Amino acid sequence: TWTTGNVIEEQVAAIREQVGTKRAICGLSGGVDSAVAAALVQKAIGSQLTCVYVDHGLMRKGETEQVEKDFVAATGVQLKVVDAEERFLTALAGVSDPEEKRKIIGREFIRVFEQAQADIVAEGAADGEEVAFLVQGTLYPDVVESGGGTGTANIKSHHNVGGLPEDLEFQLVEPLRQLFKDEVRMVGQELGLPEEIVQRQPFPGPGLGIRIVGDVTRERLDLLREADAIAREELTAAGLDREIWQCPVVLLADVRSVGVQGDGRTYGHPIVLRPVSSEDAMTADWTRMPYEVLAKISTRITNEVPDVNRVVLDVTSKPPGTIEWE
Ligand code: XMP
Repeated sequence: TWTTGNVIEEQVAAIREQVGTKRAICGLSGGVDSAVAAALVQKAIGSQLTCVYVDHGLMRKGETEQVEKDFVAATGVQLKVVDAEERFLTALAGVSDPEEKRKIIGREFIRVFEQAQADIVAEGAADGEEVAFLVQGTLYPDVVESGGGTGTANIKSHHNVGGLPEDLEFQLVEPLRQLFKDEVRMVGQELGLPEEIVQRQPFPGPGLGIRIVGDVTRERLDLLREADAIAREELTAAGLDREIWQCPVVLLADVRSVGVQGDGRTYGHPIVLRPVSSEDAMTADWTRMPYEVLAKISTRITNEVPDVNRVVLDVTSKPPGTIEWE
C-alpha cells in the first residue's frame, strides 16, 4: 500500500544505493519540489549533500529567509547561498521586454549556479571526495510530458531550477520521479518541512522580474514585494489559499494615473491582482473572490505602499490571457 512513510523509506534506500560514498549537489529554488527532493536526499546521505540557493533578488518578501533559516533548521542541510542580487539587477537594467528579461534571468542563473557547482566540486576534490551527483525535483508529470512539450513552454521561455542544462559531468538523482504534486507535499510534510514551503503555490522561476511591466529596479521590486505580501497575507487570512491556484500581483511600472491621497493629487502606479483558479495552469479562470477581501487588499495596498494609488482586478481567463503578465 502507498504511504508517505513507505515512499520515504524506499527512496532513502535507493538514494543511498545510488550515491554510495560520493557527494551530491542540489539547487534550491524556494519551491516545493526542490525542497522535498533535497530533504529526502539529506535524510539519505546527510553531509554528503550540499545545497545551493541562488538569491537573484527577485523573490517575494520573506522567501529567501525561509530557505536560509527555516528550511535549514528543519533539515540540517548544508547550504551554500550565493547573493547575486547585484549581478541580476545589473544584467536587467533598462530591459523591459518580457522575453528578454526571461532570457537574461535564465542565463545569469545558469552561470551563477554553474560557478557554485564548480566551487563545490573543487572543494570536494581538495578533500579527496568526488562530487558526482546532481539532485533534481523532477515529478511524474514532468517525466510523462518531457519530449511532448507543453503549450505554455512554447509561448514563454520557462526558467526553473529543474530546467538546468543537463550536465554530463553529473549523474542525476531524481527521488520524486514517481510522485504527483500532492504526494510531494505529503512527503514534505512527513519530513517536517515548514508549512510555507510545503503548501507554497506555484511561483515562476524568474520571480518578480516578470511581474513588473517595465524595467526592473530595486525600488520597484521593493514596492511590489510589499504589495504582494499584503495580498498574500489577506488571502491567507480569508482562507482562500486552497481555492485560489495562485494570485500574481503585478506592478504596472510604465503606467501612471491620477489619484487623490492624503493632502492632494498623486500620480502613481497601478497594482494588478490576478487571482486564478486552475487544475494544471494550462487553462485557468479568474477567481470570483469575495468583494470584502478585494476591498481589504485594495485599501491596504494603497495606504501602505508608496507610489501606488490604484488597485485593479484582472478578469481574464486563460486563454486568452496567460496567468502571468509576462
Ligand atoms: P503562464 O503565464 O504561462 O503560466 O500562464 C503558467 C504557470 O507557469 C508559471 N510560470 C513559470 N514557472 N518558470 C516556472 O517555473 C517560469 O519561467 C514560469 N513562467 C510562468 C506561472 O506562474 C503559472 O503557474
